[in-house]
Amino acid sequence: MSIKDETKHVLIDFTQMKKFCEDPVIYDEAESIYITDIDGKRYMDGMAGIFAVNSGYNNPKIIEAVEKQLHTLSFQNPMGATNNVAIELAKVLSEICPPGMNTVKLLNSGSEAIESAMKMARQYYKLIGKPGKIKFISRYGSWHGATFGAMSISGISENKEPFEPGLPGCVHMMPPYCYRCPYDLNYPECNILCASILKKIIQSEGPDTVAAVVMTPIEIRNVITPPREYLQLIQKICTEMDVLLIIDEVITGFGRLGRMFACEFYDIIPDFLCMAKGMTGGYGAGSAMVVHERVAKAFWGDPEDDNFFKHGHTYGGNPLSSAAALANLEYMKETSLPEKVSIQGQHLKEKFMNLYTYSIVGDIRGEGLLLGIEFVADRETRRPFPPEVSPGLIVQKKAKEKGLLIRAAQNWIAVGPPLIISHEEVDKLYAILESCIAEVDQVLRT
Ligand SMILES: Cc1ncc(COP(=O)(O)O)c(C=O)c1O
Repeated sequence: MSIKDETKHVLIDFTQMKKFCEDPVIYDEAESIYITDIDGKRYMDGMAGIFAVNSGYNNPKIIEAVEKQLHTLSFQNPMGATNNVAIELAKVLSEICPPGMNTVKLLNSGSEAIESAMKMARQYYKLIGKPGKIKFISRYGSWHGATFGAMSISGISENKEPFEPGLPGCVHMMPPYCYRCPYDLNYPECNILCASILKKIIQSEGPDTVAAVVMTPIEIRNVITPPREYLQLIQKICTEMDVLLIIDEVITGFGRLGRMFACEFYDIIPDFLCMAKGMTGGYGAGSAMVVHERVAKAFWGDPEDDNFFKHGHTYGGNPLSSAAALANLEYMKETSLPEKVSIQGQHLKEKFMNLYTYSIVGDIRGEGLLLGIEFVADRETRRPFPPEVSPGLIVQKKAKEKGLLIRAAQNWIAVGPPLIISHEEVDKLYAILESCIAEVDQVLRT
């Protein structure tokens, strides 16, 4: 019996298992930006695992650090104690986050980081005497995680529907989807209505009921990339209306846009910065919620104040994932990885612009090494393909056959390779992708 026949015992994320088991995808080796399946087929990983393996697979520096940590301290009681590696990691994260963001809660996943920020925002307002501020405002189309709170603020209805009703008090607003503006306006004449409307939403909900706004800088679904001023306007409204801002950098954090964090790229300082994936670079389950001192100070007090953050997870801040994250951050610094992303991201984007020669390419979006393409049946009118035609999925399938892994859905694809990708590898990635798009264009163009 082959290992493929045993796959039925595993539940894979967001996957119909019966179909998956007919031809399971099983990897067993990886190196640099390449991953190999159990049949020996090697792929260029154009999505860094799932935007996580930023410093590449089989990175000796990170492996050595984790190995060493295994022999010194692999775990400690997370209640009433911490460890030297977690403290060092929290210090480094405080140094690389925007000014004033220097209190760190170490966790295990992106969902946990978001969940923690949501809970801390509610507790914060209770502590400062505004207990009615409990609601969260986020965007349709967004994904913040699979746990109950994170799922409830997410805006992907098909992932929520089986579990509804979600958390009460979650309000959604339209995304900054310029290519298909939800208000039928054009940038810049729109004055970024999709951001300024937040003020009216908060007023309509009642400012005394809203705790926080939660947003990703670039939405992975459809690679929705807002105008540069969008997040600044959101932050301004949050400050004016006494609403906390939680920025979800689970994908954009750790160099993906050419800066350590997208907050730097978009020039904002939120109240909470949530990070995961690229933090350990795929070498441990690690995430963090970093809190601005204007919020954190409400939780600093004597035992009788009873104002500590009542939250935690067994493996949060464990020495192994902390060691992985620390070594990963050191590696990123030593190799100037974010700076390299700017260069290779620019190079890839310039190449992507040539794809407009194919009529099915409607819009090219993204920043740094996070780029996406939306396909259309008619570029003039932006008419999408009908749901039964899936150019994104066909391109993804062809790319896989040709040895390139990318993220895709019905009408879009996204590329986000390990940040260590070289100039030549960017060219190779592009060449494979272009040949796939050319083939699909030939069949589907109208
Ligand atoms: C933007 C964003 N936030 C949060 C999450 C949840 O992270 P995790 O899957 O580690 O819980 C994801 C996962 O893909 C994500 O893309």
